[in-house]
Amino acid sequence: MKDKSRFMSESPPSPGKFKMEKSYVHPLRSRASLGKLTLWSLISLGAILLVFVWSQSLRHPGRLDPARHYLTNGYAWGGSSWERRVRSSARPRPGVGMMTVLVTGAAGFIGTHVSSALKRRGDGVLGLDNFNSYYDPSLKRARQALLERAGVFVVEGDINDEALLRKLFEVVPFTHVMHLAAQAGVRNAMENPGSYVHSNIAGFVNLLEVCKSVSPQPSIVWASSSSVYGLNTKVPFSEKDRTDQPASLYAATKKAGEEIAHTYNHIYGLSLTGLRFFTVYGPWGRPDMAYFFFTRDILKGKAIPIFEAANGGTVARDFTYIDDIVRGCVAALDTSERSTGSGGKKKGPAQLRLFNLGNTSPVPVADLVGILERLLKMKANRKVMTIPRNGDVQFTHANVSLAQRKLGYQPRTDLQTGLKKFVWWYLRFYASGKKSAG
Ligand SMILES: NC(=O)c1ccc[n+]([C@@H]2O[C@H](COP(=O)([O-])OP(=O)(O)OC[C@H]3O[C@@H](n4cnc5c(N)ncnc54)[C@H](O)[C@@H]3O)[C@@H](O)[C@H]2O)c1
Repeated sequence: MKDKSRFMSESPPSPGKFKMEKSYVHPLRSRASLGKLTLWSLISLGAILLVFVWSQSLRHPGRLDPARHYLTNGYAWGGSSWERRVRSSARPRPGVGMMTVLVTGAAGFIGTHVSSALKRRGDGVLGLDNFNSYYDPSLKRARQALLERAGVFVVEGDINDEALLRKLFEVVPFTHVMHLAAQAGVRNAMENPGSYVHSNIAGFVNLLEVCKSVSPQPSIVWASSSSVYGLNTKVPFSEKDRTDQPASLYAATKKAGEEIAHTYNHIYGLSLTGLRFFTVYGPWGRPDMAYFFFTRDILKGKAIPIFEAANGGTVARDFTYIDDIVRGCVAALDTSERSTGSGGKKKGPAQLRLFNLGNTSPVPVADLVGILERLLKMKANRKVMTIPRNGDVQFTHANVSLAQRKLGYQPRTDLQTGLKKFVWWYLRFYASGKKSAG
């Protein structure tokens, strides 16, 4: 009985009872407990804040450095140790290297090869790449690791980030920019048009804005594309041919780039050389390109689409091996003249050039598959179909006589030899089974 009454007296008060009890609390006691409550709240808040800051500093070491800037993916740039890495990567080898080159799109296929070639011969090279996920970013990370071993630091950032670009030029007075960052791919442009405008137009303009305003202005070599020839039917394609009929948004953005380059050369005296690459292939290549996914799909026994024109005509490409393209890029850098402007003001006319870089011998896509079959020792499951109207053109063929004359460019690698090197790389790279080609 006794226990039961105690239990009853400890039971929660009814709402009415509660009100009555509250009125019996002394005002001084009430103020004191309010003070205690505030104190405890402040202590708890402080503790939560401390734990948060501590956990952040574990996730991002150096995050508390006020000179560092943070990208949305948590990656940071800035700060003294970052600047040291930037400087050291961009320093030419004493007595050998002549140039200090900022390579945009350095973790990309062509960017990786050009960066390592420049570094090998002693030039100072700094890479920049946003590591986007247009294709497997782990391949870009593997290329980054390769460059890191060669002494090239690839800064993670976007060419649209003006503050980052200005910082890079503040830390290193680049003599040259090799601009390869872009949203590539013809077919993807129908699904993701915005990414083409972001990288190929807005990003290019942002880069040129920074380049025009620094002193000294760098010389710029940048990647246009054979796709600017679009519906042009006159072959082989010469730099003098019309380029006002693009067949894809990708091509249109590259053509726009050529016009934008003209403007910055004309107004600000920037030295600009555009390179129209023709279907580049080779080790460390791009998984969205036919030679790459044909290899993957032949090995998997999957069907591969082989396009033919609506009239049954052959679809062919002027496949160009990466080493030939690298030689063309390096020659374009070596022969580029200085920009003439300074601090945003033109001081005189500056160099403006455009070159085709191709192989000059188009190969039907069906023959490409035949070579891959022989190298892989496997039969392809071919599905012949009409080329869809989503940006691909029927034929590309470069006339490279201008590049031959001005750059000493001479393609040396036939498709059979180049594909052999690609397949050798592919089988080794994906052999471990840890990496997947998709
Ligand atoms: N490979 C070819 O056959 C070919 C043909 C014609 C032209 N091109 C041009 O050559 C250049 C290099 O092509 P690739 O085959 O090496 O392509 P890629 O996609 O492998 O390389 C481009 C790199 O640029 C980076 N990038 C894209 N947008 C960026 C941005 N806004 N900021 C910073 N980095 C960004 C990407 O992450 C990528 O690593 C591109 O401009 C491309 O349009 C290539």
